[in-house]
Amino acid sequence: MASEPFTLRWGILATGGIAKTFTRDLLIPPSTRSVQDVHHEVAAAASSSSASRAQAFLNDLDAPSSAKAYGSYKELVTDSNVDIIYIATPHSHHYQHARLALDAGKHVLVEKPATVNVSQFTILQDLAKKRNLFFMEAVWTRFFPLSLEVVELISSGTLGEIKRVFADFSFWNDVENEFGTTHRMVNMDLAGGALLDLGIYSLTWVFQALYHAKKEKDRVSPKVVSTVSKYVTGADEQTTVLCDFNGAHAVATTSIRVASTPNGEHVGQDDIRIQGTLGDVTVNYAPRPKSYTLTPASSKSRGTPAEFKYETKDFDDSPGGGHGMFWEADECARCVRDGKLQSAVIEWKESEEVLRVMDVVRKQWGIVYPGGVESVEYPLEGFGL
Ligand SMILES: NC(=O)c1ccc[n+]([C@@H]2O[C@H](COP(=O)([O-])OP(=O)(O)OC[C@H]3O[C@@H](n4cnc5c(N)ncnc54)[C@H](OP(=O)(O)O)[C@@H]3O)[C@@H](O)[C@H]2O)c1
Repeated sequence: MASEPFTLRWGILATGGIAKTFTRDLLIPPSTRSVQDVHHEVAAAASSSSASRAQAFLNDLDAPSSAKAYGSYKELVTDSNVDIIYIATPHSHHYQHARLALDAGKHVLVEKPATVNVSQFTILQDLAKKRNLFFMEAVWTRFFPLSLEVVELISSGTLGEIKRVFADFSFWNDVENEFGTTHRMVNMDLAGGALLDLGIYSLTWVFQALYHAKKEKDRVSPKVVSTVSKYVTGADEQTTVLCDFNGAHAVATTSIRVASTPNGEHVGQDDIRIQGTLGDVTVNYAPRPKSYTLTPASSKSRGTPAEFKYETKDFDDSPGGGHGMFWEADECARCVRDGKLQSAVIEWKESEEVLRVMDVVRKQWGIVYPGGVESVEYPLEGFGL
């Protein structure tokens, strides 16, 4: 007889846009994606403004009536029916809120970017280690079956040696009218800007290809040069990062002025191009990948032809009607069940390396977030603690 699935009990910290999407995915039966070994329970949610807002959030999602609603994050992290806290506040608040949860002895899944800088991340990973707690940056893209397959194609050497990567994640926005100066995308007080919000996906693909898919001994921190255009608030609105990983080059781009997929349909757009000596793999579309295409390099001019054919492979990015965030939740459940502090799919070291690149870019362009946002001090006033 099959054993009972392991149940992970979630506490949702914040009630905004992505908290809703993620929680909706938690409520989709894992069997719809052929997962039998783990299960998720929405045990509680908290809003920094009121318990009634948290209750409305739970009601909207048809969460079980046993789920508790809290009017403060502090109450949520002390709920003994909660195993793991999902942090979905703006970037600026991740460090303070992750510390709150880890200090309370809870495992943590924190939205991307895990923190605004490396210094904050280092403190959180040390704390998780000391407290024997699972801690992960919510880079959901990495847990799509498509991503795992692309990484395997690269690490197995199918594409030869990877020499170059182009990766883009950009959205067209009516920036002045939609965002003004206060929306979290452009608000410096909330650590806004294209790089931390969208460019992190471009860097995710660069790192999947030129860092993660390599053996540990061959992984290097890239050299970084960049160019940035700033919005009136001082946040970056368009950023291009050039990374050199020991001679392999990557261009990671992001913009809130033009789109990766201008037709809005993600049709015929391959935002990611990974080029090996035996051929390319292109991926459509950066955050929520739907298909990849393999193109072997012409064998006419080379001794070693590629052992693969031209092929486009499509994937279901929403089994059970979800958004695809459940795969990272499944990984959290398995790691907690198995007593792992970090996931092998996005280890602490790699989150730290990606943050280091973003730190370098911001330093090159004088982008410093104000107030306590870049601070490692804890607790700070004004962060809803
Ligand atoms: N993985 C993805 O695909 C994805 C997509 C979008 C966003 N994200 C990430 O998720 C995080 C949240 O993004 P979002 O789009 O959900 O933002 P959002 O809709 O603005 O929600 C943020 C929530 O954080 C809470 N909050 C606490 N202090 C706040 C403050 N000072 N200002 C504003 N909100 C505050 C609020 O909920 P309360 O009621 O709890 O106070 C608010 O609803 C960001 O880090 C972002 O990068 C990830």
